[in-house]
Amino acid sequence: MEVKLLSGALGAEIRGINLKDSSKENWEVINNLMLEHKVLFFRDQDITCDEQINLAKKFGPLEKHVYVKSLKDYPEIIRIIKGADEKHQWGETWHTDVSYNPKPTKVIILRSRKIPPVGGDTMFSNMEIAYQTLDEEIKKKIEGKKAIHSSLGAAAFVDKYTEMEGNGNLDEYSNEHPIVRTHPETKKKILYVNSMYTKRIIDMDKKESDEILKKIFEHQERLDFTCRFKWTENAVAIWDNRSTQHQGLTDFFPGRGLGHERIMDRIAIQGDNPK
Ligand code: SIN
Repeated sequence: MEVKLLSGALGAEIRGINLKDSSKENWEVINNLMLEHKVLFFRDQDITCDEQINLAKKFGPLEKHVYVKSLKDYPEIIRIIKGADEKHQWGETWHTDVSYNPKPTKVIILRSRKIPPVGGDTMFSNMEIAYQTLDEEIKKKIEGKKAIHSSLGAAAFVDKYTEMEGNGNLDEYSNEHPIVRTHPETKKKILYVNSMYTKRIIDMDKKESDEILKKIFEHQERLDFTCRFKWTENAVAIWDNRSTQHQGLTDFFPGRGLGHERIMDRIAIQGDNPK
């Protein structure tokens, strides 16, 4: 097995592991690598939908997406289609998946099916380092505090896609989570707010909450916390959604003649209630 680090912050490209093998032994190696590097990348893994599902189930029960219709024959998989001319794109700013849920996603397995010749990389950011390097004054102010995460607007957003279908659910969800959570497996502290879904710090006046969240969001965007993966077809990313944020770069800009379609299959594994 070969482990090639993608940056000093997080991320490793792994060679010598076959993702068609969903045995307990193979999964344990993958899970340990994921806990260590937070996001793993594998190339040339021509796995079937069933094989992707079998591997995902090793991490725990699978999660249905709140708003997006899944594949007809595989309710566990949603197909993320980014059209060249789509006005709004999936996951195009920093976020942690579905943090508005009471039990946000634990792990995501994303498999590429069609990749543009240029553009469409995914970036990841390490929220354990973001916590460690956070300003001490801010750390004191947020100690023991919770924030509200809300899906406000997410349902309507899905409806605007031309290439992907909503599942008909238009309800909105809000849940409170600790601003600093402890990872259930590594026991490390994680800065657990994100600019896409976190709206307000509880038990703090709105002005102060807005100011602190703005500072934290800016801090979380530091490029030295990140790594970037350049996709090829039949590549797979497996990431820990508890300790990272990510964003899919939608640098297709049809006006520059670079517009191409990008197609990915996504499976999410249920997480726990952040503590
Ligand atoms: C996501 O935001 O869930 C997917 C990221 C990507 O498509 O690169």
